[in-house]
Amino acid sequence: MAAFARILGFGHYLPAKVMTNADFEKLVETSDEWIRTRTGIQERHFTEEGETASTMAAEAAKRAIEKSGIDKNNIDAIIVATVTADMHYPSTAALVQRALGITRPVPSFDIGAACAGFVFGLTIADSFIKSGLYRTVLLIGAENLSKFTDMQDRNTCVIFGDGAGAAIIQASDKPGILASHLATDGNYTHLIEFPAGGSRLPATHETVEQRLHYTRMEGQEVYKQAVKDMSEAALEAMKRAGLTLDQISWVIPHQANTRIIETVGKRLNFPMEKVFQNIAHVGNTSAASIPIALSEMEQQGLLKREQNIVLTALGSGLTYGSVAFRY
Ligand SMILES: CC(C)(COP(=O)(O)OP(=O)(O)OC[C@H]1O[C@@H](n2cnc3c(N)ncnc32)[C@H](O)[C@@H]1OP(=O)(O)O)[C@@H](O)C(=O)NCCC(=O)NCCS
Repeated sequence: MAAFARILGFGHYLPAKVMTNADFEKLVETSDEWIRTRTGIQERHFTEEGETASTMAAEAAKRAIEKSGIDKNNIDAIIVATVTADMHYPSTAALVQRALGITRPVPSFDIGAACAGFVFGLTIADSFIKSGLYRTVLLIGAENLSKFTDMQDRNTCVIFGDGAGAAIIQASDKPGILASHLATDGNYTHLIEFPAGGSRLPATHETVEQRLHYTRMEGQEVYKQAVKDMSEAALEAMKRAGLTLDQISWVIPHQANTRIIETVGKRLNFPMEKVFQNIAHVGNTSAASIPIALSEMEQQGLLKREQNIVLTALGSGLTYGSVAFRY
């Protein structure tokens, strides 16, 4: 049995097509000024024809495999965190396994924990490894949100972006993932939902006419819960890891809204220059948000080995959680 699960490396993929705030001014009654000041977003990436959650996930995975220097045939499990799968089934993870050419019959499955998906996945990977069940896990957060967002609804369309981020997690005798805290508050299932297309409301002409195949969100209520739950979750993971704030190099919050991120930083009493933000150029990419942030930080030389890092996220469910790890 391994003492620890350690992250070997990251990779990410963002579609080439960029949607600026000015592009949204042509679609809905909004302004660059409103979007920048209320969300911090300047642009986001959108998929084009042929790009799906699984194609982005596979590309991010290839880059993470290369960065980690592992042989893809040593991957023992593939987990994809997504709420925008290519299809209801097969899983996006099965499609990724196929795209990567991994022919060994490893378990490949999706998890649906919305924007907290990567944090949930990291905890699952950690448990798989520490239990001795698997040695090397490929974890991906991938979202194709533009396909599920109503481009006539200004409350949601300006927020979301597409992309994927991946990590390779492997058994190690050196500390890696230190602690996590996961939670779901089922009292708030109604705050972010995708009403139709499931078994409750299968697709009909009416559901399409009523625009029910798009994300619906009560933004202000989500905002309040996000600030509270993401701050508390971050503190809980630190406590469980036995770490104090001065021992943390980075807090990486789910990139939901600059104002949420800044308020979480203030509540934690943590210097804002150590609270990572890339929302300005990617928007909210749900489960892909944290791994894209980690991968970009790695590329920019901001992540260093032996740093203690805290991830914190909240999403539809409401599901939230945090992970403290040593890189
Ligand atoms: C969605 C969000 C940006 C809205 O910001 P807000 O400051 O709460 O804005 P409100 O919802 O109070 O709306 C204020 C006004 O701006 C308007 N508005 C909403 N979207 C707009 C847009 N894109 N452009 C211009 N005006 C807009 C509203 O209609 C409202 O107008 P009204 O006062 O005439 O009714 C913010 O609530 C948020 O980020 N929430 C969390 C969302 C989130 O993170 N979701 C994913 C979870 S992972």
